[in-house]
Parts: sequence; structure tokens; C-alpha cells
Amino acid sequence: MSNDVEEWVFGAEIANRFTDEAEKHIPDYWRVIELTINILKDNVAQDGYIIDVGCASGNTLLYLYKQDFQNLFGIDSSQEMLKVAGKNLSKVDKDFPSRLFQSKTFVQNMTFNAILCNWTLHFIKEREKYLKDIFDSLISKGLFILTEKTLQSQITENQYILFKQNKRLSNEEIESKKQQLEGVLHPLSVTQNLELLTNTGFSQIEIINARLGFVTFLCIKP
Ligand SMILES: C[S@@+](CC[C@H](N)C(=O)[O-])C[C@H]1O[C@@H](n2cnc3c(N)ncnc32)[C@H](O)[C@@H]1O
Repeated sequence: MSNDVEEWVFGAEIANRFTDEAEKHIPDYWRVIELTINILKDNVAQDGYIIDVGCASGNTLLYLYKQDFQNLFGIDSSQEMLKVAGKNLSKVDKDFPSRLFQSKTFVQNMTFNAILCNWTLHFIKEREKYLKDIFDSLISKGLFILTEKTLQSQITENQYILFKQNKRLSNEEIESKKQQLEGVLHPLSVTQNLELLTNTGFSQIEIINARLGFVTFLCIKP
């Protein structure tokens, strides 16, 4: 990283404009959230326990709440993100903030029917341990939906840059974010992700969405 660019942090400045940032930098942001919701609606009872890992500003949790899911939880390491999530979610349920946890590590002593981790695991250094904790907290036949930025070839990266340019980001903004994320976002290849998920113990692993290196995996615990 060059000296004049500060490392990427999920602080107050990003938290307050998170959805706009996500739409401009994450291909298929809303499409993946909608796919996630549809899968949960089809496969998890409305009183099933669901947690969103890296819930950020709470977009997915709000969407799930509107689909009548009753036992929703969020976890994020950023206090600033959770502040925004709490504000957004308390508009629909004043008790929601008590189900949002601030932690760098996964929750202990809870069991879930489904766990979501969209665009978050690539920020977590102790990936294997985090995945194992997720796996251990799922019921048998529980669902895990994971979206990761994966390693891009130069060909794919060029198309990703075009995607951002089409979102009206300047070349300076695109380059600066790339530098800020160096050493913070750790992408693996698709194959490495599949190996990691298999080694963790997941049985059925499918790719359910992929665009420009952003890949969504649906995994089922045996
Ligand atoms: C790109 S955002 C995730 C977007 C979100 N899943 C959505 O659907 O809008 C990444 C989030 O991961 C969080 N994060 C980074 N490291 C984390 C960790 N160790 N544990 C939990 N959350 C973490 C960040 O604070 C940020 O809110």
C-alpha cells in the first residue's frame, strides 16, 4: 500500500453511506440479497433462528424481518456499522438492537437454522476458525450462505473496473479503494474456497451466483 492511502476501515464515514458504497463496489449486491431471502423463505421456518455475519447496516436483516422471520440476529465487529443497523432496525422492532452483537469472533452457545455471511469472511483473518465456529453452530441440515470476493485474473479485474466506471466512480476512487483494501481484504481462489468449505465439513456445496469474481456458495451441514 502506498504511504498516502489509509487502510480501509468500517468506521462512521462508511457506515453512514454503506448502501451506496455497496451498490457501487459489489456486483449483484441486491440480487444476492434477494436470492438469499428466497432460499431462506423456501427452506427455513419463520420461527427458525437466522444470523447475519457482518450484518453491516442491516439491509438483509430488515428484508428478512419484512418477510416475517421472527428470530433474527446480527453480528459485526464494527460499532459504527452496528449503530446504523440498530437505528434502521429499531424503526421496525424496538428490541432488535438487543439481537445485534458486536464481536470479532462468532457467537458462542447459540444454534442456528441458517447462517449468512455475505461479503464478510474475506475480511476475517482467522477464517478457518471462524468457519468451524459457524459450522458447529448450525443444526444438522442447516444452511450456510457465503459470498466472497475471490481472486480475479487481470481479465476479470478489468471488467470489474468497467463495472465501477459504469457506476460513475472515477479512476482515482477505484484505485484508491483498491489500495486501501490491500492487506485488509484477503481473497482466496474459488478452488481454495471450495476446499475450505469441504474441509470444514459441509457436504453439499453449490455456487448459486457469480459475477466478476464475487461468488456466492450455498452449503448444507450434513
Ligand atoms: C461488505 S460489509 C458486509 C455487507 C452485508 N453483509 C450486507 O449484506 O449488506 C462487511 C462487514 O463485515 C464486517 N466485519 C469485518 N470484520 C469482521 C469480523 N471479524 N467479524 C464480524 N464482522 C466483521 C464489517 O464491519 C462490515 O460491516
